Amino acid sequence: MIRIDEEKLIFHLSSPAFSYVLAVEDGRLLNLYWGAPLSCADLNYLLPSFTGGASFELRENRLPLELPSVGTGWYGEAALQAENGDGNCVTSPVYGGYKVLPHKPELPGLPQVHQEGAETLQIQLVDPLTQLEAVLSYTVIGDGLARSMQLVNHGGQSLCITHMASACATLYGHDLEVVHLRGAHARERHVVRTPLGQAAYRIESQRGASGHEENPFLAAVAPNAAEHSGDVWSMNLIYSGSFAASCQVTPGENTAMMIGLNPATTRWLLEPGETFCTPEAVLVYSERGLNGMSHIYHHIYRHCLCRSPWNDRQRPILINNWEATYFNFNEDKILDIARTAASLGIELFVLDDGWFGQRDDDHRSLGDWYVNARKLPHGLKGIAEKINALGLQFGLWFEPEMISPDSDLYRAHPDWCLHAPGRPRTEARHQLILDLTRPDVQNFIIQMLTETLSSAPISYVKWDMNRNMTEAFSAFLPANRQMETQHRYMLGLYHILEEVTTSFPEVLFESCSGGGGRFDAGMLYYMPQTWTSDDTDAIERLKIQYGTSFVYPAAAMGAHISASPNHQVGRHTSMQMRGDVALGGNFGFELDLSRLSAEDLVTAKSMVEKVKRLRHITQNGEFTRLISPFGDSNYAAWQFTHENQVLLCCYRKLNEPNPCAARVFLQGLRPEAAYIDEDGHAYSGSALMHAGLPMNFFPRQDFTSRVILFTRQSERKLPS
Ligand code: DGJ
Repeated sequence: MIRIDEEKLIFHLSSPAFSYVLAVEDGRLLNLYWGAPLSCADLNYLLPSFTGGASFELRENRLPLELPSVGTGWYGEAALQAENGDGNCVTSPVYGGYKVLPHKPELPGLPQVHQEGAETLQIQLVDPLTQLEAVLSYTVIGDGLARSMQLVNHGGQSLCITHMASACATLYGHDLEVVHLRGAHARERHVVRTPLGQAAYRIESQRGASGHEENPFLAAVAPNAAEHSGDVWSMNLIYSGSFAASCQVTPGENTAMMIGLNPATTRWLLEPGETFCTPEAVLVYSERGLNGMSHIYHHIYRHCLCRSPWNDRQRPILINNWEATYFNFNEDKILDIARTAASLGIELFVLDDGWFGQRDDDHRSLGDWYVNARKLPHGLKGIAEKINALGLQFGLWFEPEMISPDSDLYRAHPDWCLHAPGRPRTEARHQLILDLTRPDVQNFIIQMLTETLSSAPISYVKWDMNRNMTEAFSAFLPANRQMETQHRYMLGLYHILEEVTTSFPEVLFESCSGGGGRFDAGMLYYMPQTWTSDDTDAIERLKIQYGTSFVYPAAAMGAHISASPNHQVGRHTSMQMRGDVALGGNFGFELDLSRLSAEDLVTAKSMVEKVKRLRHITQNGEFTRLISPFGDSNYAAWQFTHENQVLLCCYRKLNEPNPCAARVFLQGLRPEAAYIDEDGHAYSGSALMHAGLPMNFFPRQDFTSRVILFTRQSERKLPS
């Protein structure tokens, strides 16, 4: 909802979960409040508390600026900064008016959230000297706030935009803690929580991808905030490239929080009359702790982001051959695995890397997207039809953004990759990155995918991307636009994705980047699911899936049963444990099914049946974290709640001698109602939430799990 006090120029954006209040003072747009919902937004009485009695300090440096820029008294991080023709960087955006639109305007070429009937507040600020206009857009989506900025150069001079944040807000106080999702390849999105202290805290990616190392998400939390209670303010960027996010204690002892494109990697030349749009950020406040925040993100990203019809469809159980064969397969081997898969009830076969060109290892052939006739003598159509005949859909792996120096494509177009003249081309995994700023390269990829997807019955695409940018220089761009290369690459990628996903709406697309190196809302806009991590070990996955769930819904996470001992960490775990972890996401297998023991085959089959019985809950239910696997915790637990069903998933890492049974406390149940488990035991909702359920149900071994389905029986009340 948007309420405006025209006289006092107070803007109040709200939902039942939050209020966000802006006011204009002396030409500056101020963020007076962001937090729990307010009935009245006239907060101008707070103003003196920001500026205090400071005499030496410049007033501007104490104000809760909504669009801080450097040069007229603000000494913190700039949300907007432009260099004009004389090299002068002073930027001074002054309030110029507002508009309320009855819809959410399209952000051209960028992924974004959408909601029927959502109104948008646009506030205009103008720098009087350069006539650079910044239009700040605010749309309440679900219980979150979508924010972006559009820049228009109305002046007569070229401007170089050096800072262009998507969102900036001021939080009351200086004793907050920050939470973010840190990682590495095969160890993505581990939860980090640390006191902000009196410092500036900054996370970023300069890699040309959102990255394994940091996710474009930052939260500031009250020191007493926990999973189910306390204040949380958070920002997530709908973007898949380099970004920066920061929290900084201001001289007025408040906390300025910001997210957007990374100024270290992006500068943008704005000629007179030109426009630039930042990516969109989603801001979420929760007074119900980190789970409260996650519920809001999950709701928005499940219902207001991805447009694929697959977003709402039941996702197929798949078998992927990567960890089964790596590059070493032929048609017989693939059909062998597929036959066993069919007998287990698996629904989709995904043929991973190695089906094209001369690709027998990772040294060559990216770009040569024609079938390897030695491995697949009957072509893609032949293998796909044989797999279909077994009762499975057929899916295919691509890495469309890449080029191997040893490829026909590279020999034909050596300047199609990102490279800096006069410098060596840095290879990673023996490959280079195609220059997606170039329209000819974009068209090549669109045409290649269109032809391949039309040539055979392909129902699923795994879109991989296995290295980060170096020499981010484009032969297509002039010298004064080279710092635009990274962002123009992302716009090129989004253009390709838009074309391909809208031309093939029936294909289920899954994004991947060396596992979860580009697990972000930008990719989720085009593809409803992402491969969560190359680490498929069940114990490692507890942390990875737990951390990923801070922002992204379970229906977005690919999770597979792989071999034991695990290929990444060598750990032995039971098929049951691996399955119980994988059912927390889009379930699949990634191992040589044709070599499973008879016992494991039975378990695998019963896992498939179990997932078919439960996936409407895991895909559509509300996901709540109960016990964190981080720190010294020996346990992890989460729950899915869907209509009258609650699925409790509990995991124990190591067996312990003679312990007192730890308990798990469920969340959000109806206190009075009876919840019946599959053995017919009845519990009251209040008992499950407040007395908890003793976790003495684990078998006497390491790495064990238990998944319990409760059904609420509203007609039945337990005796008091
Ligand atoms: C990285 C992905 O994460 C893996 O699942 C697999 O597809 C390989 N790339 C193939 O090269």
